[in-house]
Amino acid sequence: MEINSQTWAQLHERAVAAMRNAYVPYSGYPVGAAGLAEDGTIYSGCNVENSSYGIGLCAECGMISEFIKNGGQRLVAVAAVNGNGDPVVPCGRCRQLIFEHGGNQALVAMPAGIMAMSEVLPYGFGPEDLTAVSTATYKEKNRD
Ligand code: THU
Repeated sequence: MEINSQTWAQLHERAVAAMRNAYVPYSGYPVGAAGLAEDGTIYSGCNVENSSYGIGLCAECGMISEFIKNGGQRLVAVAAVNGNGDPVVPCGRCRQLIFEHGGNQALVAMPAGIMAMSEVLPYGFGPEDLTAVSTATYKEKNRD
């Protein structure tokens, strides 16, 4: 799929729209995220904070929840914006979430420009690391 400047403009627009619905009474820092699936569908999400501060949800988390709920297969591009509409660097947890569904090739709009996940999260831990070792060995050793 070709990802051109028009695609990035659409992702930005959807991220800004999502950001406007963010629930951020504690930080006052709204974030919106938009993700493009390989079939051309765009999913979005906003951050949703909580009075129990530590359990707040990031915008990317909401976006990925939408993506999975609607049968998304592969994420190919992600953009997240702050309250000024400027790019936000995904936090560490969100990088891991994007990596799970987009791998090294997924593109992310970073403040410094468009980057591949291989740069945003080098040497990421992914599904193939789990399959590299059989869990049967652990289960066998620890059986009572
Ligand atoms: N936040 C996101 O939604 N995504 C990120 O990748 C970075 C941080 C949110 C979490 C919190 O609600 C607010 O930004 C301030 O940290």
